[in-house]
Amino acid sequence: MSQEKGYGLLKGKKGIIFGALDERSIAWRIALACKREGADFVLSNAPVALRLGTLDALSEETNAKIIPCDVSSEEDVEKLMKETKKELGGVDFILHAIGMSPNVRKKKEYRDLNYQWLNQTLDISAISLHKVLNYAEKTDVINDGASVIALSYIGAQRIFSKYSDMNDAKALLESIARNYGSRLADRGIRVNTVSQAPTKTSAGSGIKGFDSMYTFADKIAPLGNPTADECADYCVTLFSDLTRKVTMQNLYHDGGFVTSGISEEMIDGLVKLYADEE
Ligand SMILES: NC(=O)c1ccc[n+]([C@@H]2O[C@H](COP(=O)([O-])OP(=O)(O)OC[C@H]3O[C@@H](n4cnc5c(N)ncnc54)[C@H](O)[C@@H]3O)[C@@H](O)[C@H]2O)c1
Repeated sequence: MSQEKGYGLLKGKKGIIFGALDERSIAWRIALACKREGADFVLSNAPVALRLGTLDALSEETNAKIIPCDVSSEEDVEKLMKETKKELGGVDFILHAIGMSPNVRKKKEYRDLNYQWLNQTLDISAISLHKVLNYAEKTDVINDGASVIALSYIGAQRIFSKYSDMNDAKALLESIARNYGSRLADRGIRVNTVSQAPTKTSAGSGIKGFDSMYTFADKIAPLGNPTADECADYCVTLFSDLTRKVTMQNLYHDGGFVTSGISEEMIDGLVKLYADEE
């Protein structure tokens, strides 16, 4: 969908968007789609990411205040919720698009993980969702009927070796979404994870072998890999009132990859590659 046209699906809704780093970030694309659909929101990222300064452009374009928050700090998360309340009152949606693994960044093999870094991976990429929901409740900033999305990856279910300890982080993230979702359901609040296909962003390109993972998924998925903008459109539907009874789900947004075995194109390629063995 073009950035100009919208359906007004989020008219009057307010939210918090975590994780926009640069214009390739999935959260950046989601922020633009939410604006197009009529939402108001605050943007948040770690102070170290904000120092890069690129988020200012998105803030201007969407008229959204930036509130710094390193999600590994409970104090920061609580402060962010209080400031959001001052800025917007209650919120109707929250996007968690946060992921970071020092082990992946520093190319540590899975059998030789640095455990301090593993703790950081789990804390920043998964436990942060618990903190966000906990302080959103405690500060009374999250409205009844709100919708929360955290972005995940199929590494939570299947082994993708280069994704290393991020596979474990995504499994924990999805579990926290289910468990917290069950507890918030009495307020009509839904919590889901969207399992997005490989997408060319700065987090994506930090993974060794990412281009091969991208091509592999693209060749197998009948609809091909979805872009960050397509992910944004999907997230809009989940933030909207059209999906009020969808909760505690891990929702695949992957062009059909998860239920595919192999594509004709891959078979043809493999036949050529292994011609000598047949
Ligand atoms: N790119 C992909 O292929 C892909 C596929 C599936 C899921 N995802 C997930 O989508 C989400 C967004 O990633 P992206 O690909 O847009 O990359 P990205 O690098 O643009 O976004 C990751 C964000 O996490 C933020 N972050 C890291 N440490 C933080 C901290 N301590 N406190 C607050 N924020 C912190 C970064 O500053 C950055 O904005 C992540 O959860 C990622 O795992 C990405």
